Amino acid sequence: MSQTPRKSKVFKLKNQFHGLPKEADVNLIEEIVPAIKEGEFLAEAVYVSVDPYVRGLISTINPGDTIFGSQVARIIESKSKDYPVGKHVVGEFGWQTLSIGKNEINKIGFPAPWIIPDIGNLPLSLALGVLGMPGNTAYFGETEVCKLKEGEVFVVTGAGGAVGSHVGQIAKLKGCKVIGIAGSDEKGRWITKDLGFDHFINYKTSNVAEKLAEYAPDGVDCFFDNVGGEISSTIIYQMKKFGRVCICGSISTYNNDSGDLPKAPEIQTPIKMKCVTMGAIRVLDYKDRWLEGINQNLQWIKEGKLKYRETITNGFENTFNAFVSMLQGGNIGKAIVKV
Ligand SMILES: NC(=O)c1ccc[n+]([C@@H]2O[C@H](COP(=O)([O-])OP(=O)(O)OC[C@H]3O[C@@H](n4cnc5c(N)ncnc54)[C@H](OP(=O)(O)O)[C@@H]3O)[C@@H](O)[C@H]2O)c1
Repeated sequence: MSQTPRKSKVFKLKNQFHGLPKEADVNLIEEIVPAIKEGEFLAEAVYVSVDPYVRGLISTINPGDTIFGSQVARIIESKSKDYPVGKHVVGEFGWQTLSIGKNEINKIGFPAPWIIPDIGNLPLSLALGVLGMPGNTAYFGETEVCKLKEGEVFVVTGAGGAVGSHVGQIAKLKGCKVIGIAGSDEKGRWITKDLGFDHFINYKTSNVAEKLAEYAPDGVDCFFDNVGGEISSTIIYQMKKFGRVCICGSISTYNNDSGDLPKAPEIQTPIKMKCVTMGAIRVLDYKDRWLEGINQNLQWIKEGKLKYRETITNGFENTFNAFVSMLQGGNIGKAIVKV
């Protein structure tokens, strides 16, 4: 007897985004899911992640394509020995409720779907945040690029978000003085009172240059940049001699078209005068060490050394709204959609 075809809800790009994405730029449709083939599995979305890279990379897909994005999904059918039914995987399947996966690296370079290791009673959604890609960005960004030393002054932008709140805590574990910059006082209270950051600067209501000079009068040893643009230049003007910058992202530019990027003050002079070194973290370069980062972050959580927060939106239909809210600073910690 033939099975009734399964239908997946899918967000498709309708119009290329210009500026802040608009609801009219996407279509939510239903699509029939084909039968799985040898080596494949079928998984049902449980949590969908809304991440800045989706905005940053949107111009690489065309109208009619499924909008990309990672998710935690439960395997409901399988013709692959690597992916048993009942297990939960993280995959870059896109914004859809049913996905066919297989053991291969995805088109934009994400690791092959990985089975979530035993995380005890912790929520599975953490595999999209502190125990997933953003957590690994913080971990490998610190260990491979920042290489912090005790007593150093560390500044992080986007400090109330997934990567920023995490890397700031690692910097505290390394014995640094940590200054977080973000866009709301509520984020500031969380990172200072709960996470132990030493100082907070609200870039929307304070003069960043003045506040930074007050909190770091001798300058900054290491700057972890999530935001780019003018705020970055301001911080780079206050680096110590031989200071280091780790470029992680530039979210302040993601809503600009490539031909119309915002201008920021030149940084060559302060970099040259202070012999500042600039490096970058690209987490997808650490695919081969993926579980190393996750296991370390899990251990820190179990030891009570690493805290996390999630902003959860309920309902797959609200994925696009959750995404736009994240781009506007609506999330504290990791922005997640519970399907
Ligand atoms: N290199 C890598 O491999 C890698 C991997 C993951 C993420 N990233 C990058 O890391 C950064 C943070 O990612 P995430 O997932 O942790 O996101 P997130 O910080 O949880 O969320 C994005 C935050 O960006 C802030 N923001 C938005 N527009 C801004 C603007 N114009 N100026 C300053 N801040 C702005 C908002 O917070 P406020 O309230 O503070 O404005 C918003 O909450 C992004 O740039 C992302 O692209 C890079």
